Amino acid sequence: MKHKIALIGFGTVAQGLLEILIVKNSFLRNEGIEFEIVAVSDALKGSVYNPNGLEIEMLLKVVRETGKLLAYPDSPGIIKGWDSLTTIKETNANTVVEVTYTNVQTGQPAIDYCRTAFESGKNVVTSNKGPVALEYPSLSALAEEHGVYWGIEGSVMSGTPSLRMPMVSLIGNEIREIRGIFNGTTNYILTQMENGSSYDDALADAQQLGYAEADPTNDVEGYDALYKILILANTLMNVQLHSEQVTRRGITGITSGQIEEAKIKGKKWKLISRITLSDDGVIASVGPEMIPLTDPLAGVSGPTNAITYECDLMGPVTLMGAGAGRIETGFSLLIDLIHIVRAQAGRNLDQKASLFR
Ligand code: HSE
Repeated sequence: MKHKIALIGFGTVAQGLLEILIVKNSFLRNEGIEFEIVAVSDALKGSVYNPNGLEIEMLLKVVRETGKLLAYPDSPGIIKGWDSLTTIKETNANTVVEVTYTNVQTGQPAIDYCRTAFESGKNVVTSNKGPVALEYPSLSALAEEHGVYWGIEGSVMSGTPSLRMPMVSLIGNEIREIRGIFNGTTNYILTQMENGSSYDDALADAQQLGYAEADPTNDVEGYDALYKILILANTLMNVQLHSEQVTRRGITGITSGQIEEAKIKGKKWKLISRITLSDDGVIASVGPEMIPLTDPLAGVSGPTNAITYECDLMGPVTLMGAGAGRIETGFSLLIDLIHIVRAQAGRNLDQKASLFR
């Protein structure tokens, strides 16, 4: 049976997912999985809905050529112009892929979109940080109440399985500390500055390459990493942190002179995020640190991210991989979608219910 998807938001990441669905078509068919896009709704590009499915190639073509979904060919059954909430409530989608531009400070509109989807009996897959950072307990309870799944893998480190790997494969360990590089844009900027670029040129490149947030202040001032700390605390440590509890400093104060000084000392500047649980409570921070080249995080260059989980049974376990990017984040959505299909078919051997329910 086809698994029907409504895309809410049709920016870079959603388009990346569609490109993946095209190139992985035979793989998915061999797995017995068939995804069908029934609706796309975007605040700027408009919307189109066909309960019997839309042509993926045509969606990409009309948006690339015209910037709007209005140009999608009309045919019987097609409805255009529904806003996102109507699309979430009224379409026949099984799963809403929520990839809107969301304000990370308020988590909106993504929080309302997730809530509405769950209340309409639809699964949600999202790479948005806001809902997971700010409303994880209430939204996961709501999904559970309605018997639907919530896929959130892409909210930290894009398709690198920074949430599923510890939830599934490190299950049974208590994770008392998490440390890492959770922002690709700033790591890219620092690496480029080490190679002689100016801060402004490196930031412009990061924007051009699609790593940076819509407002890059979120990256360079450490807010993006801070929100990832809240997500990791929520999902892996069962600790609800608020932004004000995290000490935050970005990289805007780091000068080319300081980068050179670090080189002379055999060190590197990195934007390090850290959460530590102790008997006295939780300490969480994000800020630039000058670390020795012997530190494994010193070898993490460009937009790559890395995360170390300090486990009571396994000791430190480190995962390194992409933290941003069109295909990489598109992949995070694909993997959540595949897990949902498998879980619904009762053949997901490694599912951890709380990731989706
Ligand atoms: N802007 C983020 C980064 C990607 O540079 O890592 C999504 O969180």
